[in-house]
Amino acid sequence: MDEPTCTLRIAPDVKLGERVKMHAFVNLYGCTIGDDTSIGTFVEIQKGASIGARCKISSHTFICEGVSLGDGVFVGHNVSFINDRYPRATNTDGSKQGEADWLCQQTVVADGASIGTGSTILGGLRIGAGAMIGAGSVVTRDVPPGAVVAGNPARPLADRSISP
Ligand SMILES: CC(C)(COP(=O)(O)OP(=O)(O)OC[C@H]1O[C@@H](n2cnc3c(N)ncnc32)[C@H](O)[C@@H]1OP(=O)(O)O)[C@@H](O)C(=O)NCCC(=O)NCCS
Repeated sequence: MDEPTCTLRIAPDVKLGERVKMHAFVNLYGCTIGDDTSIGTFVEIQKGASIGARCKISSHTFICEGVSLGDGVFVGHNVSFINDRYPRATNTDGSKQGEADWLCQQTVVADGASIGTGSTILGGLRIGAGAMIGAGSVVTRDVPPGAVVAGNPARPLADRSISP
C-alpha cells in the first residue's frame, strides 16, 4: 500500500494556536490562527489574515490578506472575502501586477459574528459583533453589531437583530 500523503499545507510562517483542528487539503501561509479554532476541507487562508480563538471556518472558504476575524466567529461553506475593489492582472504598461501595484483593503469581522454559506464579503468592511449574514449574501456595506442581513446586496431583515 502507498504511504499516506500529508494533505495539509501549513507554511512555516503560520502562527498556529493550541488545539487547532484542521481537515484535509487546507492551505495556510503567513496567517495567525487562534486557539481551538476549526478549519474545514479546502480552506485557504492567506498571509496577513488573522483568525481568532474558537472560530469555525467551514469547508471551501477563502480568507484573504487583510481579513481579521475576532473570537467565536462562524464562517459557512464556500464564503469568499475580497480585498481588491478594482482588480487588474496587469498595469497600464502591460506588465503583470505585483505586490506594490494594488491596495489591500482591510476587513474586520467582530467577535461572535456569523457568515452564512455562499456569501461574498466585499473589502474594507466591518461586520459587527454577533451580526448574522444570511446564506448567499453579497455584503457591500458595514453591518452593525447584532444585525441580521441577507440578500444581494445584503440588507437588514425587518424586525430581526441579535444581542451581540
Ligand atoms: C438570514 C437568516 C438567519 C434568517 O433566518 P430567519 O430570521 O429565520 O428568517 P426567515 O426564514 O423567517 O425569513 C425572513 C425573510 O427573509 C428572507 N430570507 C431569509 N434568508 C435569506 C437569505 N439567506 N437570503 C435572502 N433572503 C432571505 C426570507 O425569504 C423571508 O422573506 P419574506 O418575509 O419576504 O418571505 C437565515 O435564513 C440564513 O440565511 N441563515 C444562514 C444559514 C447558513 O448559511 N448556515 C451555515 C451552514 S449550515
